[in-house]
Amino acid sequence: MKEHVCSNYCELSKKVAERIIEQLRTKPKSLITIAGGETPLGVLKYLSEHLVSEDVDYSQVKFISLDEWVGLDSNTYGSCRQTLNDGLFNNINLTSDQIIFFDGNAENLTLECEKVDKIICDHEAIDLIVLGIGMNGHLGFNEPNIVTTNASIVKLSDVTKNVMNKYFNESMELTHGITLGYNQILQSKKIILMASGSNKRSIMDEMKRVKVSYSLPASLLKYNDALEIYIDEEANIENGKDQS
Ligand code: F6R
Repeated sequence: MKEHVCSNYCELSKKVAERIIEQLRTKPKSLITIAGGETPLGVLKYLSEHLVSEDVDYSQVKFISLDEWVGLDSNTYGSCRQTLNDGLFNNINLTSDQIIFFDGNAENLTLECEKVDKIICDHEAIDLIVLGIGMNGHLGFNEPNIVTTNASIVKLSDVTKNVMNKYFNESMELTHGITLGYNQILQSKKIILMASGSNKRSIMDEMKRVKVSYSLPASLLKYNDALEIYIDEEANIENGKDQS
């Protein structure tokens, strides 16, 4: 498990964004996934500012959704799609076929899963996936003790329901998510797990210590050769130890 400890969130974001730029330079026709949520916001900002100025060819990349809240689409502030739109997609020049996203508000969510499964299957695998980690160790919306393979509709855990209101302007009663499954995540050719801030320190420590188990979804990543962890000092357990 390769781990990069960055001195702060700014450096963490820059390093991960540079990995994405490197991926695009090596393989312009990449299939890339970037999580929503707060952790990758700095990455999105860096990419928005640097893709054009560094003359990166992003005309062939496809961005594929990691997850979405069931009931929400890009019209709701705080949805995954809105976060990615605002943070990156609207700031660069992408065509509509370069973004394949779960529509959490679609009438037929099974078709949403099939749409995303087909793109990944046609491409063989995601080239680069950037993940955050939930307070309970979830990956995408793969909550503890739920086993998925491909894109799936899953029940949100109580932890996720408690945390979710940080994303929204209004109180939300959301019960389910739509998410890439473990196969799609674990078979990605490069996997970046980002963690920032002291509130992620204990779950990152637990992930490294526990046996691989669906009870802590992120633990499934840890023996994957494709995994690289990018963590800032606040989220790093060594930092916690040094301070105590
Ligand atoms: C969001 C997602 C989630 C988050 C995780 C961490 O699209 O897939 O798994 O990555 O909950 O969220 P933040 O970054 O807000 O702490």
